[in-house]
Amino acid sequence: MGALHMSSGGSEGPIHPATPPLSEPSAWHDISLTVNGKPVSAQVESRLLLSDFLRHRLRLTGTHVGCEQGSCGACSVLLDGLTVRSCLTLAVQANGRDLRTVEGLARPDEPLTALQQAFHEQHGMQCGFCTPGFLMSLAGLAEHGDAPSPDEVDEHLTGNFCRCTGYVNIRKAARQAFGLPDPEAANRD
Ligand code: FES
Ligand code: FES
Repeated sequence: MGALHMSSGGSEGPIHPATPPLSEPSAWHDISLTVNGKPVSAQVESRLLLSDFLRHRLRLTGTHVGCEQGSCGACSVLLDGLTVRSCLTLAVQANGRDLRTVEGLARPDEPLTALQQAFHEQHGMQCGFCTPGFLMSLAGLAEHGDAPSPDEVDEHLTGNFCRCTGYVNIRKAARQAFGLPDPEAANRD
C-alpha cells in the first residue's frame, strides 16, 4: 500500500496538514496579571489552560480540576470579580486582569472569610475536593448585585458538583454566608 499524501484542488483523499513545532515562537506569549493581589509575569503557550497555569506554573493547587470540560465547577476562580471555569479559560485570556483563587480568600494569618467560616461551621464538605470551586463560585455571587434571595443562592449552587455530601450542608453553609435562613428550619417547624 502506498503512503498517504496531501491532496488539493478538490480531489478526494485524506488531508494531512503539517504539525507546527511546539516551540514555534508565535505560540508563546508574555502575560502580566495580578494573582491574589500579587503581580505575576510569565511566558505561556497559546494553548495553556488557566487551570494548568495556576496549578503547575504557580503551584496554586487549591484550584482543583475534575471534569476538564466545564461541567463540575471544581476549577472555578474569579477573573475581574466574575466566576469563570479555569479549565475552559486560556492563561493568555488572564493577561492584564485581576485573578483570585481560593488561596486568596483568607491567608493563613488572617481570619476566615464569612463564606469560609460558614462552610467550617456547617461542615459543608466531606472529601473537600469540590470545596474550592463552591467557595469561589459563591464568592463571585457575593461580589455582584444585591444580596441574593434563597432561590438565587440555590440556583447558583447548581453550577458546582459534589460527589460526597448530597448538598445538604453546602446549602446550609451558603445560606448562612448570605445571612439567609437555614433551609432545614422550615422542615423542623
Ligand atoms: S474541571 Fe473545570 S468545570 Fe470541571
Ligand atoms: S465534598 Fe467530596 S466532592 Fe464535594
